Amino acid sequence: MKRIAVLGTGYVGLVTGACLAELGNEVCCIDTDAAKISILQSGGIPFFEPGLKELVERNNRAARLTFSTSPKALAESEIIFIAVGTPMADDGHANLAYIQEAARTIARCMEGQHTKLVVNKSTVPVETGDLVASIIREHNSQGADVRVVSNPEFLREGNAISDFMHPDRIVIGVYDEQSAAIMKELYAPLAAPIIVTDVRTAEMIKYTANAFLATRISFINEIAQICEEAGADIKDVVAGAGADGRIGTTFMSPGLGFGGSCFPKDVMALARIAEKHRIPPKMLKAVLEVNLEQVPRCVDRLQSALGGLRGRAVAVLGLAFKPNTDDIRESPALRLVQMLAAGGAIVHSHDPAVGLQAALPGGTVRHVNVYESLKDVDAMVIATDWNEYKQIDLELVARAMRGDIVFDARNIYEPEVVRAAGLRYYSVGRLAKAAAIKPSVLVQ
Ligand SMILES: NC(=O)c1ccc[n+]([C@@H]2O[C@H](COP(=O)([O-])OP(=O)(O)OC[C@H]3O[C@@H](n4cnc5c(N)ncnc54)[C@H](O)[C@@H]3O)[C@@H](O)[C@H]2O)c1
Repeated sequence: MKRIAVLGTGYVGLVTGACLAELGNEVCCIDTDAAKISILQSGGIPFFEPGLKELVERNNRAARLTFSTSPKALAESEIIFIAVGTPMADDGHANLAYIQEAARTIARCMEGQHTKLVVNKSTVPVETGDLVASIIREHNSQGADVRVVSNPEFLREGNAISDFMHPDRIVIGVYDEQSAAIMKELYAPLAAPIIVTDVRTAEMIKYTANAFLATRISFINEIAQICEEAGADIKDVVAGAGADGRIGTTFMSPGLGFGGSCFPKDVMALARIAEKHRIPPKMLKAVLEVNLEQVPRCVDRLQSALGGLRGRAVAVLGLAFKPNTDDIRESPALRLVQMLAAGGAIVHSHDPAVGLQAALPGGTVRHVNVYESLKDVDAMVIATDWNEYKQIDLELVARAMRGDIVFDARNIYEPEVVRAAGLRYYSVGRLAKAAAIKPSVLVQ
């Protein structure tokens, strides 16, 4: 059992704190946001993440997981995780203001001579470990033995607990062997492969992973566009190319592009790191450029299908940047709503998890029931591939709508099934006409 403090109780901090408590540690999650801590102290969860409420409740009841706005627990903790935000600054660099403040807070709370680890879980540019170490040295008047570690987080929102508990790998970047040994002991119950590197390499691993996944998404969006014009079907192309073990099919779904609080800012931050070292980030820039084109492309195609946007009623299904989360940060669906509203469309929207209080462009009508959102609309757009939309009753959809356009921006339907319901089907890279030849696999 270790005494742990987590500074920053957002998606990463709360999941980390709750999971480490589940492993038997005593964890205090700290945040400067008093409203967030108050929700947690009164048994609530400040955002939607499957399974998190039960995990937090269980560990809170067992007195292994507590919440506070006070940094007092830092002094008593052996391991302090930093999980504060690193949003994009105006110039595209990662904004390290929260990291710097966290480091100063930690330094001011240091007491005694026993070794403490300060573990950075936030996604940060190469050299941030050095920065955190120097801030702590500067503000640590007690002369405590503080060692900085990089431990980037790879969890995905919507699958966060499982990702934390069953990681493909754990990356630990250290300045010294003793820190590596403490971290290995902490993570031993997960029985996952542990990769120990120096701090800068660990920081680089996280950006490389995110940039690569984002690259796959932009790549397949470009391929889908070629498929549309060349008369090929992207779904079969992905199946056929991805069957090669070297390629695979994950992060190969074309759509509205990537969003969320990580990929857009992390690709941009990596491009800035490259430029700092006088390396032109040609690929990273192309990844971002292709990504930015996807929502406008969808709007253009809708506009043509509808014969203009002004006065047209469009239902946008899904607001979250992906299913199983209520996170709308940098959500392509939100950008779609904004562009449609700016073009004069009357937007009706639905999302199973995003709260009704989420800020949407003025005039957007929010609906709790998905079929209500489709009543008398000219077009329905699938913007987030929630399971609820995959199961939708297309006969009811056709009856509820005034028009007949289904724009499946996540390719969740089969074209012929939508057409059979009397609806016009638009997709990202699926064949315009039902394929004459169905791909089949011969089993001998
Ligand atoms: N969200 C993800 O899926 C994910 C996955 C992997 C890595 N990351 C990275 O993890 C980091 C955190 O991301 P997040 O999505 O959890 O962010 P978040 O915005 O949900 O949470 C950050 C929290 O830190 C708090 N905070 C800021 N300054 C503080 C301080 N000085 N002391 C205490 N609390 C402070 C904020 O109030 C906020 O609650 C980012 O660097 C992100 O890139 C995120």
